[in-house]
Amino acid sequence: MATNITFHPGSVSAGERSQLLNQKGVTIWLTGLSASGKSTIACALEQSLLHQGKFAYRLDGDNVRFGLNKDLGFDEDSRVENIRRIGEVAKLFNDASCFTITAFISPYLLDRKTVRQLHEKANLGFVEVFVDAPLSIVEQRDPKGLYKRARAGEIKDFTGISAPYEPPENPEIHIRTDECDVTQAVKTVTEYLVAHGYL
Ligand code: PPS
Repeated sequence: MATNITFHPGSVSAGERSQLLNQKGVTIWLTGLSASGKSTIACALEQSLLHQGKFAYRLDGDNVRFGLNKDLGFDEDSRVENIRRIGEVAKLFNDASCFTITAFISPYLLDRKTVRQLHEKANLGFVEVFVDAPLSIVEQRDPKGLYKRARAGEIKDFTGISAPYEPPENPEIHIRTDECDVTQAVKTVTEYLVAHGYL
């Protein structure tokens, strides 16, 4: 833990950045089981926002684990640290006025609550999106063959099989991906962003 450090405020306000880019930052936090559709929705949403002239950026679990979080595994402590770091990175992007889309399983209620509070304390928008599909469905989809390997005991601590997933209790948006397609999912998020003054 660092000591003897002092926060250095800049001379440019968040409002000035917002004005320049003509948009207010917001973190759109997708959470859900592996293969629930987080990455698919995140990609389509990012593209849709860019097509509307908005500066958007996607942070995705698998991708971030190739770089920033390459030292982390899937035990509980690693997942907590994974989400802590991403929460901080999302906060920075958001502060830079970006539509920040995150796609992480983020299985623990407490970690998501902590990220939400981090944003709220900094007066930054935070929208939790529960990307929901029953385990039986995501296991059928199994695009990477991970559920099969987890069931066979080849992958330990696999979310939904041998590691927990704590669903959101009060998400801003709840999308059932077994009941709607990606276009509908993007429309649902977009409508929320319009209704809350982000678009
Ligand atoms: S977490 O729980 O938020 O820290 O996970 P995340 O950073 O989103 O990474 C999830 C992706 O890693 C792959 N993978 C696993 N997922 C869950 N449990 C275990 N043990 C595991 N091992 C590898 C998997 O491809 C996840 O991607 P998605 O896109 O969620 O399917």
